Amino acid sequence: MQNGVHSTELTSEKVFARESKHGAHNYHPIPVALCRAKGVYMWDVEGRRYYDFLSAYSAVNQGHCHPKIVSALKQQADVLTITSRAFYSDVLGEYEEYMTKLFGYDKLLPMNTGVEGGETACKLARKWGYAKKQIPKNQAKIVFVDGNFWGRTLSAISSSTDPSSYDGFGPFMPGFVIIPYNDLKALEEALQDKDVCAFMCEPIQGEAGVVVPDEGYLRGVRELCSKYNVLWIADEVQTGLGRTGRRLAVDHEGVKPDILVLGKALSGGVFPVSAILANDDVMLCIKPGEHGSTYGGNPLGCKVALAAMKVLEEEKLAENAQRLGEILRKELRELPKDIVSIVRGKGLLNAIVISSGVDAWDVCLKLKENGLLAKPTHGDIIRLAPPLVITEEQLRECIDIIKNTILSMKK
Ligand SMILES: Cc1ncc(COP(=O)(O)O)c(C=O)c1O
Repeated sequence: MQNGVHSTELTSEKVFARESKHGAHNYHPIPVALCRAKGVYMWDVEGRRYYDFLSAYSAVNQGHCHPKIVSALKQQADVLTITSRAFYSDVLGEYEEYMTKLFGYDKLLPMNTGVEGGETACKLARKWGYAKKQIPKNQAKIVFVDGNFWGRTLSAISSSTDPSSYDGFGPFMPGFVIIPYNDLKALEEALQDKDVCAFMCEPIQGEAGVVVPDEGYLRGVRELCSKYNVLWIADEVQTGLGRTGRRLAVDHEGVKPDILVLGKALSGGVFPVSAILANDDVMLCIKPGEHGSTYGGNPLGCKVALAAMKVLEEEKLAENAQRLGEILRKELRELPKDIVSIVRGKGLLNAIVISSGVDAWDVCLKLKENGLLAKPTHGDIIRLAPPLVITEEQLRECIDIIKNTILSMKK
């Protein structure tokens, strides 16, 4: 044992070398080899402890290895893990009922990963477009925004404006239109095309670097989509479930999308669970046999998601995110502007923009040395998104680490 952690024969260096030798090189991780995590903390194979300021891209809003979620996983794992949707299970309906009541939709369609949620939403919107809006066969269009990110499938990258996502992977999905983000005039123009079935966006763009639209944008989106009979798909895979200080990021403006996409924290980071929610006039456009997934809606995932959702609600994690996010942004805004030019975000989904002269990757390496794990997103931007179970005392310790690290790097 070392610092309360079981020592292994593996060193960090051995972990890096083994992955590099046998694994595909589709990621460029921060050099830290983790073997255990609890709440807001993670430990590496040498027993060093870190604050997690990425939360697995917002999958562990409830904190690592939350006892109630892990216990739900263990209990269900002994009883029934999967039936496939060829049969009913005694759990799926319980989960669907809970979720539809909580979010105020008629129906839920279960999937696994976030990107499958997005794919499902796009397929459903196309079906609705043909069945209800009388769009001519194979002509349906979906409008996306510049800087969007919803995963790595061919459809998701077909709507991407980031060359590192799409370059070299064509040909791309037809029928996707891209307009600027946070631009209601451009949206109104795009929606006038009668072949548009849906507009899909993140209420705050996560991967683009926590880009927060102007106050009123989401209300404007809602009004325009209703005016032009276009479905609004809100991708809340990263922003949802307490992360931005509300149950959903759209709740900040009191608006309701036609199709809501959830993932990541829906299972508290222990199991891939995603879902879309919609009302009957939309959801029932997909008929038996027209869409599905072998694992989607499996009893194990459903029980985990139920437990994960109850933790978010019972522990009032959205409220904690709202309160602590304000402290975090206020404190970080005290850093000199010539080194941190922008601090932005909502709740505990935040980013700092590092001014030229200091490399965001180097800042993250230094943060790691000082006991805090974060990752740059897009060059000069560092996302700061701890698990929502973080306490004020822990947050203040993290603020000190971030401030001291950044000040030590001032050139
Ligand atoms: C907004 C958003 N949508 C969808 C996804 C895709 O989720 P997954 O990686 O689980 O497929 C992500 C992942 O980062 C995301 O941030």
